[in-house]
Amino acid sequence: MVGEHLIRNAFQKRFGGPGALYAAPGRVNLIGEHTDYNLGYVLPGAIDRAITLEIRPNGTKQFTVVSLDYNEEVTFTADGNKLQQHWANYVLGVVMEFLSRCFPVQGFDAVFAGDIPLGGGLSSSAALESAFAFAINDMGQFGVSRLELAQIGQSAEHKYAGVRCGIMDQFASLHGEKNQLLKLDCRSLEYELVPFNLPGYRVVLLDTQVKHSLAASEYNVRRAQCETGVAILQKYNSEIKSLRDADLAMLEACRAQMDTTVFLRCQYVVEENIRLLHAVDHLKKNDIGAFGREMFLSHEGLQHKYAVSCAELDLLVETARRLPGVAGARMMGGGFGGCTINVVAEESHEDFIRQTGEAFETQVGKKPLVYDVTIADGARRLR
Ligand code: GLA
Repeated sequence: MVGEHLIRNAFQKRFGGPGALYAAPGRVNLIGEHTDYNLGYVLPGAIDRAITLEIRPNGTKQFTVVSLDYNEEVTFTADGNKLQQHWANYVLGVVMEFLSRCFPVQGFDAVFAGDIPLGGGLSSSAALESAFAFAINDMGQFGVSRLELAQIGQSAEHKYAGVRCGIMDQFASLHGEKNQLLKLDCRSLEYELVPFNLPGYRVVLLDTQVKHSLAASEYNVRRAQCETGVAILQKYNSEIKSLRDADLAMLEACRAQMDTTVFLRCQYVVEENIRLLHAVDHLKKNDIGAFGREMFLSHEGLQHKYAVSCAELDLLVETARRLPGVAGARMMGGGFGGCTINVVAEESHEDFIRQTGEAFETQVGKKPLVYDVTIADGARRLR
């Protein structure tokens, strides 16, 4: 995490005196990708990289926010007008969502910084939303639950960033617990903690550093394709409200009515939910090999049926697949760039980094960035 003193010094220098200090982490997702907005299952965990935020009410109607990472300061009022700096829109969005729920948010001064790689698919934006949502709720003593704080962040993302994301990222940032994955049912919004303390294994992220501009637009296209699929399934069975309610036999029965692309998208989602349930069973039995195989299958589905991978991600997963000591690997998050997530045996770690690095450099011309992460606690007040 970013050193507290860095934030403290910057806050002191800009606003004088201390405020309250909060942190909200990024997340990884072990399996269950593009399932959240289809009301299926996801298996994320919060990580030991976070946004740290110092904040204090200023007794005005203005919000002044300093991003140390972007070296920018923005002042806005809650009129809902979008701001030039894209990062500031996440903060504006969260403020507006509280107001639209009739919580009287007061003006504040804030300084934040983070060590979640931006655009790496580790949900730095959800962490930013969650940090502000958590802090605003705590300062105002509004008594909003962590689940509703996640929904506030999600709506902010929909309305102010234009991505119709699911609930996974904000949920994980707010509900994370050390060494526990969250098996979240995105239909009931109930979740189960699944212990994730793999002796002898590490979670390693390889960042392609690819940021395809496609990501946001294609994300919304995938959502729309799933909705098209659901509309066709509904004609067959009116009980089906989302892909979560469909099984493979139902899909097969509607295959002729669907165009091939829509069919493949839906098939991937239904299969991914099944894979996740199997993966959780394997984890509970400590069968890391079987767990990892579900991860590889998840990647294949994302690559061929959901079509959200890219050459750089595929290269890393294919290289990982051939290496000893790699239990599982897959692309993670929305896709079209960002990171792969790898479960790697401790003793193979060094070799894994070297070999994937060399393969990537040969093809892409540079090394992927490497992040070793552990599963950590969710949003909290630090001081
Ligand atoms: C992004 C979204 C999430 C989820 C993933 C794909 O991270 O913010 O809601 O849909 O993509 O699983």
